[in-house]
Amino acid sequence: MVERYVMSIDQGTTSTRCIVFDHRGRLVSVAQREHQQFFPRPGWVEHDAVEIWRNLQRIVPEALSNADIDAAQIAAIGIANQRETTVLWDRQTGLPLGKAIVWQDIRTAPMVDELRERPGDEFFVERCCLPPSTYFSAPRIRWLFDHVDGLERRARAGEVMFGTMETWLIWNLTGGADGGLHITDATNASRTMLINIQTLTWDRELLDFFGVPREMLPEIRSSAEVYGEARSVLPGVRISAALGDQQAALFGQTCFSPGEAKCTYGTGSFLLMNTGTEVVHSRHGLLTTVAYKIDEQPTVYALEGPIAVTGSLVQWFRDRLGLINSAPEIETLARTVEDNGGCYIVPAFSGLFAPHWRSDARGVIVGLTSYITKGHLARAVLEATGWQTREVVDAMNADSALALRQLKVDGGMTANNLLMQFLADVLDVPVVRPMVAETVSLGAAYAAGLAATYWPDLEVLRRNWHMAAKWVPDMDPERREWEYENWQRAVERSVGWVRPPK
Ligand code: G3P
Repeated sequence: MVERYVMSIDQGTTSTRCIVFDHRGRLVSVAQREHQQFFPRPGWVEHDAVEIWRNLQRIVPEALSNADIDAAQIAAIGIANQRETTVLWDRQTGLPLGKAIVWQDIRTAPMVDELRERPGDEFFVERCCLPPSTYFSAPRIRWLFDHVDGLERRARAGEVMFGTMETWLIWNLTGGADGGLHITDATNASRTMLINIQTLTWDRELLDFFGVPREMLPEIRSSAEVYGEARSVLPGVRISAALGDQQAALFGQTCFSPGEAKCTYGTGSFLLMNTGTEVVHSRHGLLTTVAYKIDEQPTVYALEGPIAVTGSLVQWFRDRLGLINSAPEIETLARTVEDNGGCYIVPAFSGLFAPHWRSDARGVIVGLTSYITKGHLARAVLEATGWQTREVVDAMNADSALALRQLKVDGGMTANNLLMQFLADVLDVPVVRPMVAETVSLGAAYAAGLAATYWPDLEVLRRNWHMAAKWVPDMDPERREWEYENWQRAVERSVGWVRPPK
């Protein structure tokens, strides 16, 4: 019998990846392409949506030919994507109307600061469970309407389409301007600030508030169902899943039960805890988000703590300070010293995300003395990721009745043993890493495979999860709390740094 596989496409912030998985969730083939990052002004980050679509057209056949697989052997395609990144395009020509504005872009800060200053205002939190932030899509659409001549009028006339990256790619894969599907999934829609998180429908009051016409919005579908067939790249193959990449990682880590959590350590880091089918409102600075929705089954929610800068601090240390030549070297350098020497780095390069949500914060290094070496700085860089995770876990434990008992981790930074041990130490829970590190792609494949009946149920997926490494806490509790207080004092110094120019 001919072997069948599931293909996933992970459209991430820096690259697009195509991975083919077999029935046991093992990686069979991979192809990847990076795309250009545009930084036209300080704080602005853009992508070229056409370049990303072209990259996808190249990597899919590459992934097939790398493993000598025929398109007919692909049972289904699942898509995971960088969330919140906003692209508008012309319904007739199919061409983007400018560059995509990326989730890291902070051009909407003045608008968002005004929204945050509305005293006691529960307007947003009650509906979409998100605090006003530069992070989400709706302020970007408003910004584009305010800055691009005629765009709002054209959108009202039905000539403009909005999407995050999964919407853009599915539309192109299914025919583009020639009848392509204009859809999003509940996880991605839950990051726009435009849906009611209970009903998973576009919220009339939120749309009115941002002045976003319904005509430009995609249809909201579940995260795992057969949406339709591809008409290009892999003609005839079913597209049957779409999830935001962090939700996909939660799914790939098989965190299917309330209380199970994962954190993905990349340029930023994203800790999500499954909270079950009830919406848990955060009172401690976390986001309530859709974890996944499988077909007609009840929606599963998560609490999320996004951290904007973790791996990108290591990149900064390498590329801007030139203190190491490659990212893995940071561990070697950090091991040249016993501890941080009293030095802490708060990497609030574009403000602080969870649990603080302060766009006026900026990075600080505190505790400098002439004793400090680059080794201490390297430690402080790694420890910043540990402490930021601790802040999110504290908020998570305070918000949900379910205290974190273990943290599943994935992503590039988990190769750093020093950091992983530090994480277990400061969280005071075991930290575990699975055999298949590509959890984002695996999650999208799992969801697609479930919808296409390639896999029968969640239990089968759970059995595919195998532990590759475990770190257990080994830090004196008094020292842990003393250091944590130091970290919190450092954070206090970073917030409120930005003030209006004279
Ligand atoms: O919310 C942003 C997140 O989805 C980005 O993830 O892995 O593409 O940087 P990543």
